[in-house]
Amino acid sequence: MNDTARVSGLLDLKSLNFGDFLQGNDQAQLSFANSLTTTLQTLGVAKLSMDDVPELEMLHLFNMAKEFFALDIASKMVAAHPAQPSPHRGYSFVGQEKLAAVTGFAKDRLSDSMMQDSKETFDLGLPGDAEFPNRWPKDEHIPHFKAVVQQHYKTLERVQLKVLEALSLGLGLKRDIFLPLHEKSHHEMRLLHYPSTTAGDLTGDKTRIAEHTDFGSITLLFQDQVGGLEGRPLECLVMVGDCFQRWTGNYIRAIPHRVTTPYKTQGGDPDDDIPERFSIAFFGKPNRDARVGNLAHPQFQAVQYDSITAGEYNNMKLVKTY
Ligand SMILES: [Fe+2]
Repeated sequence: MNDTARVSGLLDLKSLNFGDFLQGNDQAQLSFANSLTTTLQTLGVAKLSMDDVPELEMLHLFNMAKEFFALDIASKMVAAHPAQPSPHRGYSFVGQEKLAAVTGFAKDRLSDSMMQDSKETFDLGLPGDAEFPNRWPKDEHIPHFKAVVQQHYKTLERVQLKVLEALSLGLGLKRDIFLPLHEKSHHEMRLLHYPSTTAGDLTGDKTRIAEHTDFGSITLLFQDQVGGLEGRPLECLVMVGDCFQRWTGNYIRAIPHRVTTPYKTQGGDPDDDIPERFSIAFFGKPNRDARVGNLAHPQFQAVQYDSITAGEYNNMKLVKTY
C-alpha cells in the first residue's frame, strides 16, 4: 500500500476527543497524547473531535468562505494573489496554483505532467504581518469577512499550538519544546473552494488538488462534508507537514495527500455531477528563521536533514507552485 492510499478510508478513522487534552487530568492528557502520537506515526493523519473548543465557529466561518467565493470575479480580484509565489496572500483563481509541481518533491521525482488543480483559494497570514501583508476584499462587497477570518486565525493558532503540545508529550519531549519555534506566528490559513464539475472533467490532467505534502509543521483541516457544521460534533483532520518530519528525522512523517474525485463517483458516468466543496486549512508553520534540521534527540536521527531555515524551505517549495 503506498502512502497516498493510506489516506483513503479516512472517513472510518476513529476520532480522538481533543477535550480530553484541553480539560482532562494528567492521565487523560497523557492517554490522548499517546493516541495522537501513535496515530500520526502510523498514518500521518489523525481525526480530532473539537467539541470542547466553543470559540471555533466553523459554520460561521464556512458561510463567510461561501459568501466570498460567490462574489463576482472582479470583487475577488480586489484581493488578488500576486502572479509570483510571494507574498502567498489573497485570492488565487482556478488554475493559478499548481501543487503538482511539488508532487514527489522530497523523493527527487518531480512531476513531469503538470496536473491542473481545480480549486480557488484565499490565503492569509498573521494579521499585521509587515513582511507579507494580507490582502482583503472591500468591506462593502463582503461585510465582516476580514474580522471573522482574522479572529479564526487566532483561534486556530491556539488549537494548533495545543496539538503540538500534545504531540510533544506523546513523544516524551518537554511539552513546550515547539512553542518558541512558532512564537512569531508565521502560520498560514487558507479558505478553499472546489467548484462543482462533472466526473469526466476531473480526469486526465485535471484534479482538485494534485498529490503533495504540506510544507509546515502541523496542518488542521476542516471539511464541509465531514460532519459537524450543522452543529456539533465538529471534526478536524490533523496532518503532519514536512518541517515536523525534518525535525524528527522521519520518526514522524509528512503524509502525501491529494483531493480527487469523490470515491462514490469513481468508475461512474463521466457526466455524473460532482458537487462543489469547501474546506478550511490552517497550516501551522515554524518561524521563518527557525531551523528545520533534525532536533538533537537520539530518536530523531534516522534520516539527516540540512539545518536550513523554515523560510528557506518554504520558498523552495512555494516557488514551484505559481
Ligand atoms: Fe495539503
